[in-house]
Amino acid sequence: MAPPSVFRPGLYRDRVAIVTGGGSGIGKAIARELLELGATVLIAARKEERLQEAAAELTADVSGVETAGRIYTKTCNIREEDQVQALIAHAVSEFGGLDFLVNNAGGQFPSPAGAIRTKGWNAVIETNLTGTFLCCREAFSQWMEEHGGSIVNIVADMWRGFPGMAHTGAARAGVDNLTKTLAVEWAHRGVRINAVAPGTIFSSGFDTYGPFFQPVFLAARENIPARRLGTEEEVASSVCFLLSPGAAFISGETMRVDGAGSLWRLNWEVPDHDNMPPYGGRPLPGEDDPGA
Ligand SMILES: NC(=O)c1ccc[n+]([C@@H]2O[C@H](COP(=O)([O-])OP(=O)(O)OC[C@H]3O[C@@H](n4cnc5c(N)ncnc54)[C@H](OP(=O)(O)O)[C@@H]3O)[C@@H](O)[C@H]2O)c1
Repeated sequence: MAPPSVFRPGLYRDRVAIVTGGGSGIGKAIARELLELGATVLIAARKEERLQEAAAELTADVSGVETAGRIYTKTCNIREEDQVQALIAHAVSEFGGLDFLVNNAGGQFPSPAGAIRTKGWNAVIETNLTGTFLCCREAFSQWMEEHGGSIVNIVADMWRGFPGMAHTGAARAGVDNLTKTLAVEWAHRGVRINAVAPGTIFSSGFDTYGPFFQPVFLAARENIPARRLGTEEEVASSVCFLLSPGAAFISGETMRVDGAGSLWRLNWEVPDHDNMPPYGGRPLPGEDDPGA
C-alpha cells in the first residue's frame, strides 16, 4: 500500500491531469497521488486492459479519501500523432480542460551502443523524445496556449551519458533541452514546464529488463550514496511538487530524484586497456613500470 501524500488533501480538486504511461510503475504512482489530492486523472498508454486494472486498483486505494478525485483511461500510443491529438482532445471535451500533463510514458532496452540497430534506435527516440514532444505540443495548442498549465517530463539519469542505453540517454537529454526551450517559449502563456530525472527506481519497469539486466539494475545500489534504490512514490511526490503552486517560480528545471547517484560512481566498468596513448607516445609515470 502506498504511503499517503505529503501534500494537503484536496490540493488538486477541480484540476484535470493526464499521466502517460499511468497504468504501471512510476506513472501509476503519480496518477495515484494526483487522484488522492483530488484531481481528475486520465491515464493513457497502449494496453487497455492494464489501464483498466490500474484505474480499478487506484480507485479502491483512495476509496477512504473524502477529497479524492476520479480516474479515467484512454488508450494512446504516444508515437502516433493522431492518437496524441485525440488524447488531448478527449481530456478537453470530456473534462473541460487540461491543467497538468505528465509525460511519463517511455521505454528502452539495454544494449551496447555498437549493437543497437537503426530500427531499435528509432523506436526509442520516437517514444521518448518525439512522443514527449507531440504530447507537449498538443497540450499547448489545444488548451494551454489559451489557459496556461503545468507540464512535467520524466527523463533519466543521463548526465554523464548513458552507457548501455545510448538511445534513451540521447532521447532524455533531448527532452531535458526541450524542457528548457518550452519553458522560455511558453512562459508568456502561463505554462510552466519542468522535468524529473529519476535515478534507479525499483518499479514495475524492472520486470521488463530480463534475467541478464535485472542483477545489474539491483547492483546500482552500490553506486548510490543513499545506499538504496528509489521508490515510485518518491518520484511521484517530486512531480506533485513541481505541478503545485509551491513551484510557481520554477520552470525549465530538471529535478534529480536519485539519492545523489548522479554525483557519485557510474554503474559501468571500463576494461583496463592501453588503446588511448598520449600524443607523442611519451610514457606517463607508472605506465611502463612493470611493478606499478
Ligand atoms: N524505473 C527506473 O529506474 C527509471 C529510471 C529513470 C527513468 N525511468 C522512466 O520512467 C518512466 C516510467 O518507468 P517505469 O519504471 O514505471 O516503467 P514501466 O512500468 O515500463 O512504464 C512505462 C510506461 O510507459 C507506457 N508506454 C511505453 N511506450 C508507450 C507508448 N509508445 N505510448 C504510450 N505509452 C507507452 C507503458 O504502457 P504500455 O506498454 O501499455 O504502453 C508503461 O505504462 C519511463 O519513461 C522510464 O523510462 C524509469
